[in-house]
Amino acid sequence: MSVFGGYKKTISEGDLVLAWITRDNIQPIIVTPGKIFNNRFGSYHHEDMLNLRYGSQMLSKTGHGFIHLLHPTPELWTLSLPHRTQILYTPDIAFVTSMLALKPGSKMIESGTGSGSFTHALVRTVGGTGKVWTYEYHERRFEAAKEEFIEHGMLGDGLPLTITHRDVCKEGFDIEGETLDAHAAFLDLPAPWEAIPHLSRVISKKRQIRLCCFSPCIEQVQRTLAALRANGWSDLQMFEIVHRNWEARQTLITPLSSAIDRLREVRDKRRLPPGEARKDLPKKRVKEGEEGYDWRAVSVGEKEVKGHTSYLTFAVMAPGEHEEVGGEGEDVEEHAGDIAAAAAKAADEAV
Ligand SMILES: C[S@@+](CC[C@H](N)C(=O)[O-])C[C@H]1O[C@@H](n2cnc3c(N)ncnc32)[C@H](O)[C@@H]1O
Repeated sequence: MSVFGGYKKTISEGDLVLAWITRDNIQPIIVTPGKIFNNRFGSYHHEDMLNLRYGSQMLSKTGHGFIHLLHPTPELWTLSLPHRTQILYTPDIAFVTSMLALKPGSKMIESGTGSGSFTHALVRTVGGTGKVWTYEYHERRFEAAKEEFIEHGMLGDGLPLTITHRDVCKEGFDIEGETLDAHAAFLDLPAPWEAIPHLSRVISKKRQIRLCCFSPCIEQVQRTLAALRANGWSDLQMFEIVHRNWEARQTLITPLSSAIDRLREVRDKRRLPPGEARKDLPKKRVKEGEEGYDWRAVSVGEKEVKGHTSYLTFAVMAPGEHEEVGGEGEDVEEHAGDIAAAAAKAADEAV
């Protein structure tokens, strides 16, 4: 079973552990006795991690720093994975999962695999009774994702994930010897409109099918919408998710009188000869929350917004509509097509 699909209490040899250093720095470690994990706060010997409970705080051998040893989850993996492309972050993943009505037992098509961020969440959601078919045309990304999925217990005999090295825009989604009757599909591709006509061959004919296309440019959305209409998809909706973390902090309350006193002090020191002034400067920096000062709780928005701002286009295929396939949407205005082609090229170069 995937290490992302369940929980165990203690750490064993060969486990994937996510070392929480700071909110923005989480490092994956495969516990291998004899190896040492180093960072600027200290050294951590893998054998000392054995039999510790997940969630434990571990002090460094050099005594300065510490890390927390966390159990892998798709959410933490998304924050710590090696980036090979732009990825989906949890706010988008949660929204897409909900809009596609994914649940245990769902059968899902995904392309491209990219860095596998969404794939990890999908595999957990569909569980042992569901199925995820993911496709990636970039050979090195395909190989890296495949290796990672095997290492994480997600890919192998009897497991719900299949990864295929394929250009889905040219060759579609069919897999020899397998009937794909997908319930939903997610396309994170530069030109989803080229893949949309191929979906009718691999989606279930008996139920309502939901599709989501993730595109960074509005011109790509226009072209996708035209292809969706031409291929019998309805209930078209588009959303933009903007996500920002807020941090709880304390700020020092300085009365106006002491601020004025401080300004006077600085002005007076500037009048002293340079050496004298430096000697007098206060050495101590007040630490946040230090006793003896007046503090007020504030919230601070993170500077870098960790959400790949993009447009999420959703569509539904009603049972029986599959026959009306019509290519990439010839009705799109000519100039929109040109802009979209340029946008797709730019997006492809950006991954
Ligand atoms: C932005 S990444 C996907 C990231 C992924 N959703 C994640 O969360 O990690 C887009 C991927 O689609 C792949 N791709 C682009 N066009 C493709 C095609 N026609 N067929 C298959 N894969 C394709 C790219 O190589 C790239 O790895």
